[in-house]
Amino acid sequence: MVETVGSQSSHASQIEGARLRIEQLRKEVEHHRFCYYALDSPELSDSDFDVLYRELEALEQQFPELIVPESPTQKVGASPSTEFTPVRHRIPLLSLANAMSKDDLVEWQERLERGLEIEDKDATFDFVCEHKIDGLSIALTYENGVFVKGATRGNGEVGEDVTLNLKTIKSLPQKLKPVAILPDGTIDVSGNLTGSSSTELRMPSLIEVRGEVYMPVSSFTTLNNALREENEAVFANPRNAASGSLRQKDPRKTAARKLSLWTYFLYVVDDQIKQPRSQADNLNLLAALGLPVEPSREKVNGLEKVRAFVDHWSDLRHDLDYQTDGVVIKLDDRKLWDRLGNTSHSPRWAIAFKYPPEEAETKLEDICFEVGRTGAVTPTAWLAPVTLAGTTVKRATLHNADQIARLDVRIGDTVVVRKAGEIIPEVVCVKFDKRPEDSAAFVYPTECPACGTALARVGEEVVFRCLNVHGCPAQKVRRMIHWVGKEAMNIDGVGEMLIEQMVKAHLVEKQSDFYRLTEESLLTLERMGKKSATNILAAVELSKQRPLAALTFALGIRHVGASVAELLADRFNSMEAISKASLEDMCAIEGVGTVIAENVIEFFAQEENRALIFDLAELGVKMEVDQDKQAVVLPQSLAGKTFVVTGTLEKLERLEAEKAIKARGGKATSSVSKKTDYVVVGASPGSKVAKAQELGIKIVDEAEFLELLGM
Ligand code: IVH
Repeated sequence: MVETVGSQSSHASQIEGARLRIEQLRKEVEHHRFCYYALDSPELSDSDFDVLYRELEALEQQFPELIVPESPTQKVGASPSTEFTPVRHRIPLLSLANAMSKDDLVEWQERLERGLEIEDKDATFDFVCEHKIDGLSIALTYENGVFVKGATRGNGEVGEDVTLNLKTIKSLPQKLKPVAILPDGTIDVSGNLTGSSSTELRMPSLIEVRGEVYMPVSSFTTLNNALREENEAVFANPRNAASGSLRQKDPRKTAARKLSLWTYFLYVVDDQIKQPRSQADNLNLLAALGLPVEPSREKVNGLEKVRAFVDHWSDLRHDLDYQTDGVVIKLDDRKLWDRLGNTSHSPRWAIAFKYPPEEAETKLEDICFEVGRTGAVTPTAWLAPVTLAGTTVKRATLHNADQIARLDVRIGDTVVVRKAGEIIPEVVCVKFDKRPEDSAAFVYPTECPACGTALARVGEEVVFRCLNVHGCPAQKVRRMIHWVGKEAMNIDGVGEMLIEQMVKAHLVEKQSDFYRLTEESLLTLERMGKKSATNILAAVELSKQRPLAALTFALGIRHVGASVAELLADRFNSMEAISKASLEDMCAIEGVGTVIAENVIEFFAQEENRALIFDLAELGVKMEVDQDKQAVVLPQSLAGKTFVVTGTLEKLERLEAEKAIKARGGKATSSVSKKTDYVVVGASPGSKVAKAQELGIKIVDEAEFLELLGM
């Protein structure tokens, strides 16, 4: 989309063209907003909606005279917080007072002693130390052991209903385990379900659970790598990623994001079981009920031991697969909680010890540029080595040209680096008072550092790209690295260095050249031994049998990540069918929108790419799904029918039910409207049943539903 400046005479006709397009876009945007907000039944994927919206915004910016107050760009859209139904918390979610130093902990203990009127200075408290998980707090309601509602914290009194999204979290149990009640009426929190004559199994009829939803560090890294590959904005840290993922309006998107959960507190609201009398037992009860509880928790006596816990974890915490930003210290004895009470926002019986932020000053020695698989050129700061959060940091991201300009960062500057979400170090700011006198403003390169082609910004992207797709050696290397990757062709033993050597020696120019390698050609490479060459050839040979989805992903089509590749392979069963698929065919797949489909079509329209596929096939790379693994195409018995599933089904999870509907050509939506044909009602349904009755829509139970599915 390179902007062209028309002549004076064509300006009027340009405006007229823009006016017509703007009118059409406004109608479409309004329509889709209505489907999304009012009907809760979007017809477009988020990204496809964004494409429309951005086109409208761009046109209005170009022709400001055409902006009217009624334009959807001028109205304050529904704020994100209104996308979910508000829920009033049965018990408000409080926050915690912070201790920034060990002295603050001593002061807290003194406040406890005063509050409890304890004179005996030798008395020590029992505390429970838990990691302070850096995620988002969540309130879960279980009725008769079944997960019925989950909400975000919101303002502590009212949060957002994110039940459906929470249901996609694997570690969140949909059903609790009953607990054993000992003969003395207390709960056996050991999780031993003997159910013998001396114990009785009981399910709490109503409990409220509190915990933290987080994104494992490993998932966060994978997600950001995938986003970076697709040139989309990355998340700054796992907490933002978790929050963004949990607040998706499409639960399938949340499901793809691999969130997890630790719970740390429960309120027993009914009288089936009794609230445990200590925090240690609260945690044990949560675990006995089958809820996930962080294992590092420790009950300790006295503040000294608390300090030891804090010190013990101060570095070790970086090895956990979740981020923690401190330690929560709670008095163990519940009786004391009642005596101490709460301030307006936090309980007096607990405190959060916060680890100091991990920042360090160091010298910026150079700014280097890396060229990605799709030609994106990104700047990296090379630093004098410095220790940060337990590791030595030598590189940090500078994101893009705009960021370099914003920071006014120059080679030779002293800079502050921070681990963004303690994962990717980034340059935070420049210490201007330490700037050398002879420093010069950094000049951003205008040419690709690898091939010298002029860099360009395409459309509204912030990133500069080298557009020499097939000629640039750096892009070639990145494409090959992508090809051999685990999720792609999984060619073991071929790493970045070797690929650089191969490309330099012109052994591998395009992906199919891997299948032309011979022992002879490999042995021409420096430091290559006979044994390694044999292993490489074996791994290359093995890769010819990779599944179609892996091959599709390996091609590196823009916007086709591993999961989209899987969808395409499942639907079309062969590379030939994928390459010939129409826009409509692809868009009919749940999870594939027009942007993706257009990129696939564009990929296969290019001669080089078609030749590559042909070449790969000639060389023996498998191009179709094995016969026995081909998805069975079910009779489209539900074509044209729209379903809403509400409540809990016995035999199918909600997502499975929706999948089954779609596999038979039907549509599954989340809210009841005149367009709904069937409302499937499970246990504890919500208000949707009343709405269905009101609109006269057919209501079916699980058995009737299974019959409709032919299951
Ligand atoms: S207890 C009434 N325990 O920290 C006590 N909170 O800064 C409520 N958090 O909103 C909190 N890990 O989201 C507690 N082990 C833990 C926690 C934890 C993380 C979060 C929670 C809370 C925030 C307070």
